[in-house]
Amino acid sequence: MTTVYTKDRLFLARLKERYVLNKLGSTKQTYHVSLDIKDSGIQHQPGDTLAIMPSNQPDAVANVLSYFDHPSDTPIIDPRSKKLVTLHEFITQRVNINRAPKKLLESLGIDGSFPDLVSCLQEIGLYKDSVEKFCTLCAPMLPRFYSIASSMQASPHSIDLLVSTFTHPVGTREVPGVGSDFLCHQIDEKTPIPLYHQATKHFLLPENLHTPIIMVGPGTGVAPYRAFLQEREGGPGKNWLIFGERQKNYDFYYEDFFREMEANGELILDTAFSRDQDKKHYVQHKLMEHKDRLWQWLENGALLYVCGDAKRMAKDVLNVLENIIVENCSDPGGYIKNMRKEKRLLLDVY
Ligand SMILES: Cc1cc2nc3c(=O)[nH]c(=O)nc-3n(C[C@H](O)[C@H](O)[C@H](O)COP(=O)(O)OP(=O)(O)OC[C@H]3O[C@@H](n4cnc5c(N)ncnc54)[C@H](O)[C@@H]3O)c2cc1C
Ligand SMILES: NC(=O)c1ccc[n+]([C@@H]2O[C@H](COP(=O)([O-])OP(=O)(O)OC[C@H]3O[C@@H](n4cnc5c(N)ncnc54)[C@H](OP(=O)(O)O)[C@@H]3O)[C@@H](O)[C@H]2O)c1
Repeated sequence: MTTVYTKDRLFLARLKERYVLNKLGSTKQTYHVSLDIKDSGIQHQPGDTLAIMPSNQPDAVANVLSYFDHPSDTPIIDPRSKKLVTLHEFITQRVNINRAPKKLLESLGIDGSFPDLVSCLQEIGLYKDSVEKFCTLCAPMLPRFYSIASSMQASPHSIDLLVSTFTHPVGTREVPGVGSDFLCHQIDEKTPIPLYHQATKHFLLPENLHTPIIMVGPGTGVAPYRAFLQEREGGPGKNWLIFGERQKNYDFYYEDFFREMEANGELILDTAFSRDQDKKHYVQHKLMEHKDRLWQWLENGALLYVCGDAKRMAKDVLNVLENIIVENCSDPGGYIKNMRKEKRLLLDVY
């Protein structure tokens, strides 16, 4: 029987392999993270995601705990799961330490807004009140989702992820993202990695193996397409990938795999490297360059997938798609609406 894992029933995976996909000299660090899921019973399909419950960085946890007048092994009942845990476990695994909710500040009797737990605890010096009260008022740690970058056909006992690392400002400090730092820097082969699998309802491969697919995926947006292509390798359907990143020599993720499929005549591969020339060159510019092919594929029933950044990329790609359709059809709005209705325009953006 297949076990269904959820936020409240997590599978503990282990790290199998991890390496940086960018070459030396790159301005980015994006990791290939392979997780061992043997004996989990997880059955996934291309397009699915993995939800990871990360832990906070040990130093950041120690910093928070240093403001408590309570030992770190103080037992508490987690207000959400009702399980008995120590204060240390709670701050490590169950709290978003980069948030100080208003209700917590009110309870601590302090005014103003604070970017994280440490900055508000600094205001009071030492926390002596009830630990359980404090924990109840903290923002919860939420799962982080990652597109599965491998198919079960290619790797039945492990799941590959493509994870980009970065830092972002919290108050006056630059801090790494919690989930990405956990996967890329904190875990080793011995760390239990709590996770569950989330099946996609919409970002699915066509049932008909002959249906052509167009995949637009800059950056980590390319992750699900590796799974798509592993699944469709050797099949009758035409595949077209438009990948984008900063620099061709340093940031071409899984180039060997894509090039091999291209050489075998199983993939049309187009790339847009944004920082190899003065003017930005993005995936949507590549689509525009190949507007006749795009229209021909769409008219032949191709599915168009867009994955990656939601804020700018996806909107810009959809604008260019609309412009291309305008040139070929008198009712572009209706055409796109129809594509969405027929599930031929599929977005997985974040
Ligand atoms: C369906 C879905 C699929 C996803 N697939 C992938 C995937 O395959 N690979 C992947 O790497 N991520 C993926 N993500 C994003 C991922 O879930 C996390 O949001 C991401 O790793 C950041 O989480 P974090 O815990 O590291 O950062 P947090 O600690 O949550 O910090 C987030 C903060 O950092 C900023 N931030 C987020 N990303 C960046 C960035 N790249 N550069 C600079 N600042 C940033 C945000 O504005 C926010 O303020 C996906 C998200 C969804 C919803
Ligand atoms: N501050 C933030 O909140 C923040 C910042 C970055 C990423 N993110 C999130 O992290 C996700 C993963 O990031 P990632 O590192 O994999 O890659 P990414 O930041 O999405 O970058 C991948 C490629 O897309 C290009 N790009 C930038 N703007 C674009 C646009 N409007 N249209 C098309 N392409 C565009 C980038 O070029 P250039 O970089 O050369 O412009 C780069 O070549 C993003 O999708 C996003 O959700 C968040």
